[in-house]
Parts: sequence; C-alpha cells; structure tokens
Amino acid sequence: MPSPTTPYPASRTRRLRQTPAIRALVRENTLSSSDLIWPVFIQEGKDTSTPIASMPGVARMTIDHMLIAAREAAELGIPAICLFPYIEQGLKTEDCADAWNPDNLSNRAIRALKAEVPEIAVMTDVALDPYNINGHDGYVMDGEIVNDATVEALVKMALAQADAGADIIGPSDMMDGRIAAIRNGLEAAGHQNTTIMSYAAKFASAFYGPFRDAVGASGALVGDKNTYQINPANSDEALRNVAQDLAEGADMVMVKPGMPYLDICARVKTELGAPTFAYQVSGEYAMIAGAAANGWVDGDKVMMESLIAFKRAGCDGVLTYFAPAAARLLAG
Ligand code: PBG
Repeated sequence: MPSPTTPYPASRTRRLRQTPAIRALVRENTLSSSDLIWPVFIQEGKDTSTPIASMPGVARMTIDHMLIAAREAAELGIPAICLFPYIEQGLKTEDCADAWNPDNLSNRAIRALKAEVPEIAVMTDVALDPYNINGHDGYVMDGEIVNDATVEALVKMALAQADAGADIIGPSDMMDGRIAAIRNGLEAAGHQNTTIMSYAAKFASAFYGPFRDAVGASGALVGDKNTYQINPANSDEALRNVAQDLAEGADMVMVKPGMPYLDICARVKTELGAPTFAYQVSGEYAMIAGAAANGWVDGDKVMMESLIAFKRAGCDGVLTYFAPAAARLLAG
C-alpha cells in the first residue's frame, strides 16, 4: 500500500512518470491479445456481412465470413471467440426447440470453426432468448419466467453445443441451479473436459440494447428481465451469485456489463480468487464507437484505456467487440 509517511520533497511521485522508460518499469498492469474473447454475431446465408446500425464497425456474418474473421483473430493471438446467432423469426417458438437442434446455426458454426480454425477456443451462449417467441431467456408460463423447466431446456442446449465441439459453455440466462444441472449433464455425457464460464453476475442492464437489435430479440421481448437478472444497485447479492456458480461447478465466472461494474469485478477477484472475466457489452461498445465516429473522443485511445481498466480491476480477461481492433493495435 502507498506509504503516506514519506513527505515531499523526499517523495516526488512525478519522478516515476518522467520518461517512457521509467514509466514502463513501474507499469502495474498489461493488456495482451491473450486477454481477449471476441463476441461474434452470426446469421444464415452465404458471403454476407450485415452491418449493425447501433454498433458502428460490427457486422453480423454468415458462417463463411465468420471463419475468415476467426482465422485472422487466431493469427492476432486472440484465444477465444464467442458465438451469438441471429435466429429468423420463423424459428422462434414457445418451446424454443431450435436451441438444442444439433444442426442449428450455432452448432453448425461451432463444427465449422473446430474444422477450419481448431486453435481458437469456441465459447457459446446458453439462454433461450434468441429462440423464444417472447424474447425471454426462460420459458414464460402465465406471465412468469419459470425456473426449473427452463433449466431442463438449457441442459439440452448446452449438451448439443458440447457435442458440436464447444470448448467453453457460457450460460447467460441467470436461472437458479443451471450450473449444477449443466455440469452434471456434461459429466454424464462424457464431456468432462468441457469448461463452463458462467455469466454469474449479470445485471438487468439497459446497456444490452444494441445486442438485442443484433440478434433480432428487441422486437420480441415482452416486459423486462428484472425477475432474473441482478438489480444494478446490488453488490453483495452479485457476490453470492458468483460464489454459488463456483460451488456448482463453474470453471470461470463473468461480470456483465463491464465498465459500470468494475467494483464487482474487483470484489469477485479479491474475495473469491476465481478466473474472472468482464463482458464489455454492446451498449458500452456503442458509446465508445459512436463517440469516436463523431470525432468526439479518440476511439483507439479510449478503447485501450477501457480495456486496461478491466485488467487493473483484477479481471483475467475481457469479452469485447473491440477484440480484433485492440489486438491489431497491440501487434503494432
Ligand atoms: C442473452 C444475452 C444478452 C447478452 C449476451 N447474452 C442480452 C440480454 O440478456 O438481454 C448481452 C451482450 C451485449 O449486450 O453485448 N442471454
């Protein structure tokens, strides 16, 4: 801890800031491409990338385009890619059956990635919202988001992803008991080595707005997600959720959104000591990219400053739509 006992002028904090060399020596945290997980939106079709209006610089890609982007990401040293499918309106149902279809868009993309870019780890999203007629992460019965029936569906979904070759299962649904259920399901199916990164502290946030546009869920969503995602006013509750997911068998945990919740990241890392990740979500990306596109901030500098902040808070890595841009800058 900084010692307040050495008075000025014996202590001059600016001595350590005077040249790039001295600053490099006393640098406390670093960002490397190996800290980054790249969330990617995929869609049906061939040879198409569809720009997302609320996320300047981000496009939804058909699997062929995604494979080219994933190859570049792997060459930049990005260790993992996280897939989010855009599901056509006609496939959204009340029972969400496409979520565990072995040949759904997401599972075909996983297989293609494992065949074409085997060195990149593939992370998935486990939640019903892209497949759900009403846009919720869980089943809705009589206006209520029901927990246990949803968990059964999530296990089927996670198993289909593991069968397709997913390396990291990412439950983002916030139902109770889903980590234990998925972990047991994976063990029973012979997927002992499939890892789980749980969206353990996921807050009911307005920062997810552009994402819901990107996966076509905004139109569908009826009501809000306040009965399952955490109240942004709470931190002890978030810590209990993270501890619970670790006890149930999560290998890694995530805090989401990222920048407005760095206090949660720091508490999770210091109090629980688990591999901790933050998700710099779509709305955070949109604020930075939108301001940069207008010339209001220096986009590259704000991007790098936002990413080092996660490392300083104690995160082991960050899910960020900036991953390729940041990795390119880091590579010089
Ligand atoms: C859905 C899911 C969401 C995000 C990741 N998975 C949105 C939500 O909970 O409504 C948000 C990601 C982002 O905003 O970048 N289960």
